[in-house]
Amino acid sequence: MIRLHEVTKVYQMGDTEVRALDGVDLHIKPHEFVAIIGPSGSGKSTLMNIIGCLDVPTSGQYWIDGVEISKMSDNDLADIRNQKLGFIFQQYNLLPKLSAIENVELPLIYKGIGISERSKLAKEALRRVGLAEKIYNKPSELSGGQQQRVSIARALSSHPQLILADEPTGALDSKSGIEIMQMLHDLHEEGNTIIIITHDLNIAKQAERIVTIRDGKIVGDMDNRDDMAGAENVKSSDIGDNENLKSVDTEAGN
Ligand SMILES: Nc1ncnc2c1ncn2[C@@H]1O[C@H](COP(=O)(O)OP(=O)(O)OP(=O)(O)O)[C@@H](O)[C@H]1O
Ligand SMILES: [Mg+2]
Repeated sequence: MIRLHEVTKVYQMGDTEVRALDGVDLHIKPHEFVAIIGPSGSGKSTLMNIIGCLDVPTSGQYWIDGVEISKMSDNDLADIRNQKLGFIFQQYNLLPKLSAIENVELPLIYKGIGISERSKLAKEALRRVGLAEKIYNKPSELSGGQQQRVSIARALSSHPQLILADEPTGALDSKSGIEIMQMLHDLHEEGNTIIIITHDLNIAKQAERIVTIRDGKIVGDMDNRDDMAGAENVKSSDIGDNENLKSVDTEAGN
């Protein structure tokens, strides 16, 4: 459903060029659960922004469901986002003045869904993430884990084909993180395509496929379905985060 061909993203910073993405080829099939890992600054969020139609490549091509995205106008990009994509961010990105249900209804408004259907879908999504009792609470009246659940409800209320999550557990304690990952697993079981960006190897090894990016290039792409064999092959240098590796090593009994 997703194909990138020689995608580059170059940021001009005064006299210097930053090649955030440098010739990325990537193919993601429907119903895959993919983790994208790499050290800080390697280009993960830049890649997610392009996959998520929040930004366009400097060069190269990008297709979703066979439709070329790379040369679309901002309006067309917005349409694709509204029709096909759901986003989950590390910092939730909820609007502070809106209640949980109003936050979840927002993408449905952009999708042109009428008021009563909107309310029904939003309530369903919030029940789904265990927040039926909190639908009129504002984000400031919710815990971090609950806020992230609102953002998951927002991502899934419009039944997107693809869910993109950038460090969805990054701001959460480990228990809330496990709950959020469980929700992503459930969505995957139901047939959603999931792409999750993380620098936590414990999160990455829950995915079916692990793509490693470094200096804007894809340097690893492995199938992780058989006995987690793939995850065992991820090297410390792929992540650049000793904390996470320590916990993986401990788990593996080393
Ligand atoms: N808007 C921008 N303008 C200039 N440079 C940028 C911009 N966004 C990202 N960069 C640069 O592009 C490179 C990749 O950044 P990116 O945010 O994609 O990294 P990341 O892998 O998501 O890192 P992290 O794990 O810290 O979130 C970095 O060198 C960064 O400084
Ligand atoms: Mg990032």
